[in-house]
Amino acid sequence: MMRWGTQTLVVDGPTRRVVRGRADLVTLGLPDGAELDVRPAVGGDLPGVVDLHERCSVRSRNRRYHGGSARPAPARLRRLLEPARGVTLLAAPTTSDSPTAPVVAMANLIGEGDTAEVALLVRDDWQRRGLGSALLRRVVWQAEQSGYAALDLHIQAGNTPMLRAVRRLDRPLTVDRDGSLLTLTVPLIAAVSPIRASLDLSVATR
Ligand SMILES: CC(C)(COP(=O)(O)OP(=O)(O)OC[C@H]1O[C@@H](n2cnc3c(N)ncnc32)[C@H](O)[C@@H]1OP(=O)(O)O)[C@@H](O)C(=O)NCCC(=O)NCCS
Repeated sequence: MMRWGTQTLVVDGPTRRVVRGRADLVTLGLPDGAELDVRPAVGGDLPGVVDLHERCSVRSRNRRYHGGSARPAPARLRRLLEPARGVTLLAAPTTSDSPTAPVVAMANLIGEGDTAEVALLVRDDWQRRGLGSALLRRVVWQAEQSGYAALDLHIQAGNTPMLRAVRRLDRPLTVDRDGSLLTLTVPLIAAVSPIRASLDLSVATR
């Protein structure tokens, strides 16, 4: 790890992806030189996330939501943007001049007790450039910071890109199979139980 100005620079993994920034906003460099800002979603991101889904292929949406090709209803997307527990990360190219840079990928971390479920969606024209793997690493980091004990990923058995992205994490995991749906569980080194953390917070703000 190195310092770059006031920010932290991390050279990440064998493809030497670069991540720099603070906990809430990082700039991610892909191996092909593209740069993206990755930040937690807010309710106002709904139009960008609707656009992301509209620009994704039927196959990508089907792999993300496990069934049907329909776009998720705005109410469901709104809940995903601001989950009761967990976080949604959005990626947008830094080079965009537009004040509303297009959202090209979304990573969801949905907490349930001591574990959290993770799911990714990368826009088709941004796939296979290292973004999915980098976002997955980021969301794993986020989950560890939040104190979750393990992550669950529900992945269709034929979803080679997602299975390869998980394999790139190079972490021990278990696999459960239910028909064509795999559930991969990745244990984490939880520093603080998320339940404990929320108890501490409620005591501190009383
Ligand atoms: C799965 C997904 C997030 C991967 O994102 P991505 O940006 O393409 O991922 P990466 O570029 O980091 O590639 C990850 C791995 O998949 C491989 N890969 C990517 N696209 C591929 C394709 N079309 N065919 C075969 N392998 C592919 C890459 O080569 C890489 O493997 P490697 O590191 O062993 O070389 C993206 O394809 C996606 O959004 N798919 C639709 C939604 C989905 O499947 N979500 C997962 C549900 S949890």
